[in-house]
Formats: sequence, structure tokens, C-alpha cells
Amino acid sequence: MIQTIPTTPIDGQKPGTSGLRKTTATFRQPGYLENFVQSIWDGIGGVAGKVLVLGGDGRAFNAEAVQIILKMAVASGAAKVIVGQGGLLSTPAASNLIRARGADGGIILSASHNPGGDDGDFGVKYNTANGGPAPEPVTNAIFAASAAIAQYHILTAHDLDLNALGETGLGEMTVEVVDPVSDYAALMETLFDFDAIRALIASGFSLRFDAMHAITGPYAREILVNRLGAPEASVMNAVPLPDFGGGHPDPNPVWAHELMGLMMGADAPDFGAASDGDGDRNMIVGRGCYVTPSDSLAVIAANATCAPGYAKGLAGVARSMPTSAALDRVADARGLPCYATPTGWKFFGNLLDAGRATLCGEESAGTGSDHVREKDGLWAVLMWLNILATKRLSVAEVMQAHWAEFGRNYYSRHDYEGVDKTAAEALVADLRAQLDKLADLPAGPLVVSEAEDFSYTDPVDRSVTSGQGIQIKFEGGARLVLRLSGTGTHGATLRVYMENYEGSEFGTDPQAALVDVIAAAEALAGIKTRLGREAPDVVT
Ligand code: G1P
Ligand code: ZN
Repeated sequence: MIQTIPTTPIDGQKPGTSGLRKTTATFRQPGYLENFVQSIWDGIGGVAGKVLVLGGDGRAFNAEAVQIILKMAVASGAAKVIVGQGGLLSTPAASNLIRARGADGGIILSASHNPGGDDGDFGVKYNTANGGPAPEPVTNAIFAASAAIAQYHILTAHDLDLNALGETGLGEMTVEVVDPVSDYAALMETLFDFDAIRALIASGFSLRFDAMHAITGPYAREILVNRLGAPEASVMNAVPLPDFGGGHPDPNPVWAHELMGLMMGADAPDFGAASDGDGDRNMIVGRGCYVTPSDSLAVIAANATCAPGYAKGLAGVARSMPTSAALDRVADARGLPCYATPTGWKFFGNLLDAGRATLCGEESAGTGSDHVREKDGLWAVLMWLNILATKRLSVAEVMQAHWAEFGRNYYSRHDYEGVDKTAAEALVADLRAQLDKLADLPAGPLVVSEAEDFSYTDPVDRSVTSGQGIQIKFEGGARLVLRLSGTGTHGATLRVYMENYEGSEFGTDPQAALVDVIAAAEALAGIKTRLGREAPDVVT
């Protein structure tokens, strides 16, 4: 029986950088998920007759949420939902399924790299028919619907068994349970030279992939072990757990310290990599050599033609504004168009759809291409393996060669997490208010040359997105960006991004190379005193 349940708007159901993210406990409140899902249906003009893709990263509440969403899809007249077995799908695999099946959209259940579990976070992302995150007009419509909601519709029924593959009916709707890995693995085989990577591994090249007890375990096993012949032990923390084993599934040197310890140790494998909760982020590390995401993006742009799927060359490249300009140097040298977008993958969608960009990336460990409309962790890993298989160089040698050709953009991000929201907002607002007076003034040891509040005009649809972060450039070429995170669930997180270009000296520690920019940031924003913090919580 389809029930119509009266409800009232719940404050704060505003999708952030990447969907709606709240604590698991918040999502478990009666009606919380239901209100938001109905708001998605209402915001996109209903789901009657539509085909949707559904799955998540397996964190706590994934299983319950999938059942609720299925019952709400049928109650609003959806024709079919394609769901990953066990309710699981990585974010890139979901994007691929939406595209491959010509679905009208999809829902991905994940809070990405945020910890999961009863005390962790949960999230809901809506992706559109191109397979990408809903763009701002859609998320705004969903938010508006959440503020006006008066009722939601849901079928009263038993939970479906989502372990058996194949089609079943739920009321008038078809539910198709698919293997979450196979279509995605097949797509990867079309892009990369699996024979060359298999030969590299067979020659004794050793690798370790850390799935961080999150969604990529089954994907990495199938691709790296079954299809590419890596030993079983090459995939660590391979079993997805609802609380990610108590870990923080963010692939950076801080949270992937187990892998980092191994890679910096005496018996390090040749290659290490990790991915995040929902499989869209990546970390690349060679023996004794961590590769920053910004550098990884630049290396991939410079060498993508090693992979058969990109042999024809790139149409263009794009990065989020806070990401380092290492990519721009490659684009300049190769004569490629290069775009700088606001933070968040959704801003790459139009560039990818219009064929203006082939590769995109963010400093936050996201890299991807036009093969799907999300960033893609394992894709980046396979791209690196393909490059190494072609060049037969170590990761450290690839980096040295890259810097020798393009120079090095020293780069670091300092995060001040869980700080007082009012204080953080005031810090940003006060700095923003001074921007037009900063040029030519000293800032600690540096002198400001330009200061702006980043605003982006989408070159495809001309839509304007403003207030996307404070960008300050200094004489001599250094750059500072400050913005507040749009994905946190506790207080506020201030992100401070710093960059300085160096043409000939490549061996300095980034924190030392950036000491003047760090001092300039403090002089301009007074971070320590205003936030009451001695040091950042996370330095990447
Ligand atoms: C963060 C990253 C951003 C990424 C997003 C989703 O957003 O900075 O690059 O797209 O997570 O993975 P933020 O918390 O900075 O708003
Ligand atoms: Zn993610």
C-alpha cells in the first residue's frame, strides 16, 4: 500500500560541496531521510516513469536507506531502479551505470572520506542523467523543495533481498540488482593497457593498494588481483566495513598512515595507492616518494597518451581553483586549454559534457576524466600503473623528470577542523571586506599583487557562481587561497591552500618551501588568534 505521510520542513537540508552530509544519527531520525528523498523527487520534477541507479559505500545506515529509497521510488511512480548488489556501488561505478544504462539519474549514499559508523557521518548525493553530481540549479531546487515539503510518499512493504542478482518487482516498479564491479572493471579495460600493466606486475613490480575498509576493496581485488595478476596481499584493508574499521577513509598521508609507513620503510613496494570511502579519491605514492594530488594531476596530463583510451590526446584540462597550477604548466607547454573551476566535481560536468576538457582534478585527491562524470580513485591508480608500465621508471624518477621539464609547484593545504563557525565565518568575511585594498601592501614577508573573491563564469552555460574562495597572489608568484569547507558536519573547517613555483630546486620539504606564504596567510588572516588554534589539524 502506498502511504502519504504528512511532514514539515527540516532545517538545513541544503546540499553542500557534494550532496547532503550529516551525522548518521541525524539521518536516522524518523523522517529525516524521507524528507530529503521526497525533496529530491520534488526538486527534479518527480520520478514517475523514470529509471534510477542506486547504491552506496556500505557505511552504517546504507542498507536501511536503500530500502527506504526503493519504497519511496515506487510510491512516486519510478519505472525501474538499478541497484548494486547488497546496496553497494562506488561513486564512479554509479556514475558509469547511470551513463551506460541511459538512466535518468541516480542516488549515491556516501559521506565520501568522512568517517562512518553510528558516530560517523552519512550522506546522500543526487546525480543527473550525465552521471555527474547535480549542478547548482538542481541542488537549489532540491533545497527549495525541502523547505516547502508537506508530505512524502512511501510503499508499505517488506524489505527486498538485494543479494540475489537479477530483476524483481516492487509494486509496479522493477528492481534490477547488478554486480557493482563488473561493468566498471570492463570500462577500465577499454581505457588502459591491461597487457602492459600485467607484464609490469609479472616482471616483479610490487604494489600495495589500501582500500581503507571502504568500497574499493571488491573493485581493487577484481581489477588488480584477478585481472592484472597482482598477489592477493596487494590489496590491504580490502573488506568494506560499516564503520571503515574505525578509520578515517581519506587517502592522504595523515589518514593512510599505515600505507605511508610501508611506502617510506626499508622494504617498500614499488607503488602504493589508496582510495576513500566511496572510491572517488586517490593517493599515489612511490617507494619513498609521496605524490601530491596536484602533481599527480599534472603528471597524468603530461603522460595520459600512454594509455590507449587517451592516445588521441586531450581536448583540454581543468582543475579546481585551489588546486596547484602544476597542471597549467603542462597545459601551457602542450598548448591545451586549461580551466579553473570552483571546488567540487559538479563544476567539471559542463566542460566534460561539452568536450572541452578530457581530464580534471582537485587538490583534495580527486582525479578523473570524461569516462564518467565523477572523480575516480581506481582510474587514477590504473593510469599511473599504465604510465609506469610504458615508461619503466620508478615513481620518484617520473616526478624528477616531470619537475625537470615543467618546474615544481610547491604546494600544501592546512586544515583547521571543527573550529567555531562564527569565528571562521567572521575571519573570511573580514578578509573579503579588505580584498580591494590589499594590492601592493605587505603581508608578512611578501607583498600582495592581486586579491579577489573567486567567481566562476561557466564557459558552457554562462552561469555565474560567486563567493568561491579568497585568492591572493603575491609578487614573485606565490599564491594563497582560503575557503570554508562545504562538506563538514561539525562546526566549520577552514582550508588554507598555499603554493609557490620553483624552477630549479626540487628537493625542498614543501612546508619549508612555503614558509613565506604561511607567514603571509597568518599576517593577513590572523588564523591562530582568531580561531584559537596553535597549528592546523591536518597538513597535506
Ligand atoms: C572537499 C574537497 C573538494 C571535494 C569535496 C568532495 O570539499 O575540498 O575538493 O570536491 O570534498 O569530495 P570541501 O570540504 O573543501 O568543501
Ligand atoms: Zn569520495
